[in-house]
Amino acid sequence: MKINAIQGSIQSAEADTLIVNLFEGITSPAGATGAIDTALKGAISEMIANGDLKGKGGEVAVLYPRGAIPAKRVLVVGLGKQNEFNLEAARQAAAAAITRARDLNAKEVATIVHGGGIGKMEPAAAAQALVEGSLLALYQYDAPKQQAEKPNQINSLTLVEHDPEKLAGIRAGVAVAEAVGTGAALARDLVNMPPNVATPTKLAKVAKRIAEDHGMKIIVGGRKWAAKRDMGAFLSVAKGAGEPPKFIVLEHNGEREDLDTIVLVGKGITFDTGGISIKPSQGMGAMKSDMGGAAAVLGAMKAVGLMELPLRVIGITPCTENMPDADAYRPSDVITASNGKTIEIISTDAEGRMVLADGLVFAKRYDPKAVIDLATLTGACVVALGSKAAGMFTNEDTLRDKLLSAGVTSHERVWPLPLWKDYRKDIDSDVADMKNGGGRPGGAATAAIFLKEFTDFPWVHLDIAGMALSEKKSGYITAGATGFGVRLLAEFLRSW
Ligand code: BES
Ligand code: MN
Ligand code: ZN
Repeated sequence: MKINAIQGSIQSAEADTLIVNLFEGITSPAGATGAIDTALKGAISEMIANGDLKGKGGEVAVLYPRGAIPAKRVLVVGLGKQNEFNLEAARQAAAAAITRARDLNAKEVATIVHGGGIGKMEPAAAAQALVEGSLLALYQYDAPKQQAEKPNQINSLTLVEHDPEKLAGIRAGVAVAEAVGTGAALARDLVNMPPNVATPTKLAKVAKRIAEDHGMKIIVGGRKWAAKRDMGAFLSVAKGAGEPPKFIVLEHNGEREDLDTIVLVGKGITFDTGGISIKPSQGMGAMKSDMGGAAAVLGAMKAVGLMELPLRVIGITPCTENMPDADAYRPSDVITASNGKTIEIISTDAEGRMVLADGLVFAKRYDPKAVIDLATLTGACVVALGSKAAGMFTNEDTLRDKLLSAGVTSHERVWPLPLWKDYRKDIDSDVADMKNGGGRPGGAATAAIFLKEFTDFPWVHLDIAGMALSEKKSGYITAGATGFGVRLLAEFLRSW
């Protein structure tokens, strides 16, 4: 879908479908919606007067101009209550309108920027929300089945703005949204792919493509490479894997040590059977999403490359399957990680913290200002927060505030959980420096306190176990992979 922004009047736009909007409770629309209403001889006001259009969030009315203007249909999307309007309402309105347009087989769509008028939003932020909501809502995973009929596809989306002074901001917002939308779609694709396709080797191929397209440096380390670096924790999980493991590092502005360095680390378990501590077969298929952290990091790196962010950003994704096998690691094994610390294995199903341990130690060499890891780490975090927020653990208050704020802006929300040292004794071991599991109580916090053993820099751990998959379609979240983390990270990095 081609996206552009032009100066003009929406009622004369050359498109088959126009999108305008309405706040709840408005009886005679003004601005762009008012201009269309006038051109249609009061058709919108009449719908409102008859109670057929209320302006509730997500409501979409379809009108037929019958030659009064060039477009063949007009969609009026509800924005909800004006005093509750925000970026998320703008995304949701855009999603509702564009999916209706697609279902009506619209080809060329022109829209006004929701919130740009009486919503009083910054033009860039409002345009970004509009395009983000549209791209995310239109996302479809290209499953390799013989589809009888091709899904409808919109060719172009044109943002029409009356005020020439707002155009530069709108164009900047569109560019950010296209970058972030592309990154989020990539993350969704990787999680949606079956686990025999989205293997560590496949993730490395995708990372190489990102490196080529955006002039990034890349390292793809296999078993030997990791062994040379004493990555015993990563390799312990990989031991039972039939698919070759890949420790992937992408460097954006890698040589630019003058710039602030942010390192992103993503858990890349391409399928988590639990290993020897095998999971119940019921619902195990969902564990193809256990590389959701790695997918978010790769998607964020794609967005960073597209935006050419003036920061040094490093993406690290330790990728492997977790399989039961004659060679698999076992409960009771004692493993040495790359920082020399020893780990007693309580459960081979607590594999995420193992691969992250060596990922976090590797981050240290970049002398980072901040390290953020994302991992579908614990069922306990899903119990605590459901799928409304990722659990956040951090050793720095300023980072916590930055991520909270990026979460609100992007609506990929995070919520603080404690990293108190009191949790440390839950992973005390008689035979090693620590155990890889602390039992059921406080499972998200004991996982975080384990990871802390591998950090000595400003650090945030995001437990995204509840966030990577969505059972149902809801607004711009399509069923299946959500791409969670890409928009959050992009917003965090952009406002660094
Ligand atoms: N990948 C799982 C966590 C998970 C659970 C992600 C549900 C998404 C949805 C992780 O590797 C795991 O198995 N964690 C164990 C840890 C325990 C063995 C200490 C858990 O949460 O039960
Ligand atoms: Mn597991
Ligand atoms: Zn896992």
